[in-house]
Amino acid sequence: MHPITLNINGEKHEVSVRPHWSLAYVIREKLGLTGTKTGCEMGTCGSCTVLLDGKPYFSCLRMAIDSGSYAITTIEGLDADGKLHPLQQAFIEEHGMQCGFCTPGMIIAAKALLDENPVPAELDIREAIGGHLCRCGTYMRIVKSIQKGARIARGN
Ligand code: FES
Ligand code: FES
Repeated sequence: MHPITLNINGEKHEVSVRPHWSLAYVIREKLGLTGTKTGCEMGTCGSCTVLLDGKPYFSCLRMAIDSGSYAITTIEGLDADGKLHPLQQAFIEEHGMQCGFCTPGMIIAAKALLDENPVPAELDIREAIGGHLCRCGTYMRIVKSIQKGARIARGN
């Protein structure tokens, strides 16, 4: 076991890991941050997406032991001052989920998009969530939710 420190949502977490443990596994199973989901665990569904220094990554494909130098953001880190992130609010208002399993990954990917491009075209949104599977087929409402989240974030 190797001791590492992970910086997640602005908090430092000291944890001992085996070299082959994925970041997704450690986030969920060792640190209890179960908002991040794991589906395929082979980089094909997007449900495990987290931000590393603001960029979206599939955390099932990253080794936890190599992740100590990044500022990691999970879905639990998006709300602020007791208020949901605009994207979280919009997903609720636009019914952007059915079972909700893909939702954290979708919202994290959308946050990375809006941080770079506050006024995304529909195609930008589709590209941003292109690697994400929604088994419930809620894609149209997910796109609408991200469009609304962008409007809320801009204050209109
Ligand atoms: S669980 Fe990581 S991409 Fe599917
Ligand atoms: S809402 Fe069920 S997988 Fe997307």
